[in-house]
Amino acid sequence: MKKLLYKWKSWWRSLPKFNYFVIKLWVSIFFVGFAFRLIYSQSTVFSQYPSVKYTRISPPHVDYFTPQQITVETPPQEGKCNLFIGDWIPNQGGPLYTDETCSFIPDHQNCMKNGRPDTGYLYWRWNPHGCELPRLNPEKFLELMRNRSWAFIGDSISRNHVQSLLCILSTVEKAVEVDHDEGYKSRRWLFPLHNVSVAGIWSPFIAEAAIFDDIVTGASTSEIDLHLDKLDTNWTKLFKSLDYVIFSFGKWFIRSSIYYEKSTVLGCHYCPKRNFTELGIDFAYQKVLRNLFDYIVTSNHKGTIFYRTSAPDHFENGEWDKGGNCRRTEPAREGELDLPWLNKIFREIELREFQKASTRASNGVNLKLLDVTPLSLLRPDGHPGPYRFFQPFSKDKNAKVINDCLHWCLPGPIDSWNDLLMEMVING
Ligand SMILES: *[C@@H]1O[C@H](CO)[C@@H](O)[C@H](O)[C@H]1NC(C)=O
Ligand SMILES: *[C@@H]1O[C@H](CO)[C@@H](O)[C@H](O)[C@H]1NC(C)=O
Ligand SMILES: *[C@@H]1O[C@H](CO)[C@@H](O)[C@H](O)[C@H]1NC(C)=O
Ligand SMILES: *[C@@H]1O[C@H](CO)[C@@H](O)[C@H](O)[C@H]1NC(C)=O
Repeated sequence: MKKLLYKWKSWWRSLPKFNYFVIKLWVSIFFVGFAFRLIYSQSTVFSQYPSVKYTRISPPHVDYFTPQQITVETPPQEGKCNLFIGDWIPNQGGPLYTDETCSFIPDHQNCMKNGRPDTGYLYWRWNPHGCELPRLNPEKFLELMRNRSWAFIGDSISRNHVQSLLCILSTVEKAVEVDHDEGYKSRRWLFPLHNVSVAGIWSPFIAEAAIFDDIVTGASTSEIDLHLDKLDTNWTKLFKSLDYVIFSFGKWFIRSSIYYEKSTVLGCHYCPKRNFTELGIDFAYQKVLRNLFDYIVTSNHKGTIFYRTSAPDHFENGEWDKGGNCRRTEPAREGELDLPWLNKIFREIELREFQKASTRASNGVNLKLLDVTPLSLLRPDGHPGPYRFFQPFSKDKNAKVINDCLHWCLPGPIDSWNDLLMEMVING
């Protein structure tokens, strides 16, 4: 197991308590109900959104968010490079699939079909310093994975990831859907000729959570009941039967929630109508992540478990609902963009908890870090932006459209997350 050292200034701890509270509040208000559903969920139609009133508190003074370098240092290993340190270089080959060859691209991520005019963002590949990262070879992958099962467990970015893999593999064999839950949030596909199973399992908190969203409007009707000490049985019941598991989650923790442990209320995150202590996103995220890693390292699981670090969004020129957009058409240079501050909070927790877990995972459990944060930060050009909907400017070229700078176009940069997975499976 690679030992990960990381340097990370504990920037937010040094904030006065009051300011940190303001940050928490701002985060939650920013994403309450309507706002959240619009960007983070894919199931409701745009026109169905009610206009929900909410107040906003300005983010704290920008001085608190001065650029911070992400430094993930891995001690050099004999004949090995760090796959996650590198740059994006031009790649004439382009993607392995298109909107016409892959039926797994959901409308909201189908940038080609939706009319995104530029295509330059498709012609880059991740180039780790000091080694070559081959493109995932779908034929080889399916052959290698004969009789094996994969599952991507998490939120809508996790779903975005599994769709990318399905598209890549479908260039060799058509996948057949074999299973799904009632709401089609969790689904499983089979590549019958190779007997390879690939699932996307919906579990946005990883922990057990009761979510009270109105099915029709998508508006939140009450705080989420989040049980920090209980993992979601929707995935734990399958865990033992899976050969390869990729966990990733995070963004849902910004929602208004009541935190429980042993079924007793500990406090909450943004619950102004209740008399509970504000505990903050970081409190809950750390508890759940630690709980997840405890579960993994004591599971005697015989397969391979990946923990994928959270992916940053790239809203620029304003907040998501204030004309914030992502108009770039090329990757950014190293150091050009800062990690969004929410991701900074996540990242410190993710790296710290992973490191702790990896020192404990010596009893045969194969736990790997798929550290996509730094390389994804360099791809502000990879999001749908306004092309979340079909031809958004066909009737009015000045139409006001909410941009999605969080999910990723397919094909797009996250196809390389799968190149990394394959490389880690073969040579990890
Ligand atoms: C497919 O793989 C599963 C294990 O994932 C195995 O139990 C099953 O027998 C295989 N089926 C065929 C037809 O090879
Ligand atoms: C896959 O499973 C089938 C049926 O159980 C078995 O005959 C075959 O040898 C297995 N192949 C591999 C590569 O494990
Ligand atoms: C588990 O799955 C069921 C059925 O899809 C769903 O209603 C429930 O919300 C899920 N649990 C969590 C914690 O997401
Ligand atoms: C809120 O909780 C505190 C401490 O538990 C208590 O002293 C106070 O009376 C409560 N306030 C209300 C309005 O219930």
